[in-house]
Amino acid sequence: MKLGRELLSAQAIQQRVRELAEQVSKDYARIARPLILLSVLKGSVCFATDLSRYVTVPVNFDYVAVSSYGSGTESSGVVQLLKDLTMEVTGRDVLMVEDIIDTGLTTSFLFEHVQRHRPSSLKLCVLLNKEERRVKPVPISYKGFDIPNHFVVGYGLDYDELYRNLSAVHVLEPD
Ligand code: IMP
Repeated sequence: MKLGRELLSAQAIQQRVRELAEQVSKDYARIARPLILLSVLKGSVCFATDLSRYVTVPVNFDYVAVSSYGSGTESSGVVQLLKDLTMEVTGRDVLMVEDIIDTGLTTSFLFEHVQRHRPSSLKLCVLLNKEERRVKPVPISYKGFDIPNHFVVGYGLDYDELYRNLSAVHVLEPD
């Protein structure tokens, strides 16, 4: 597999992240304690970090990790928690930050997991959405872009741990 055409430029991504941060800042303007940005490792780290720089309300960071695609481009459908929350989220406002929602299996698993800790609120912020591939519905509150059904890399997203550092999003193509 090789790097293909650019789907979203670095500039378009930054512009959209700024818009999402503005909306988040408005919606959480009145919270009593910092908003917990719950980033899903490793893919959403770039997005969560950039988002946090544009958000004007106080934030805390936490991270969870789940098993994902391995080295292929197809989901196994089996989700496993590899790293749990380290913060106490009970009674707190939590914004789960995801890089991409494909089948929805990973996100719905995590959403239910966090919900069991009874946060005061739990919302989902996702950069990329592949609606066409959805198996399990997920409640998205903030969405960056709807994209077609391609395997994409860059801006945190990888193929076999490569390309996460690109500032644009590209389509992955066969050799
Ligand atoms: P889902 O459980 O099928 O929604 O998949 C979610 C996870 O699969 C994401 O958090 C990514 O880690 C990975 N994933 C899904 N689509 C892509 C893609 O196009 N490029 C890179 N990773 C992807």
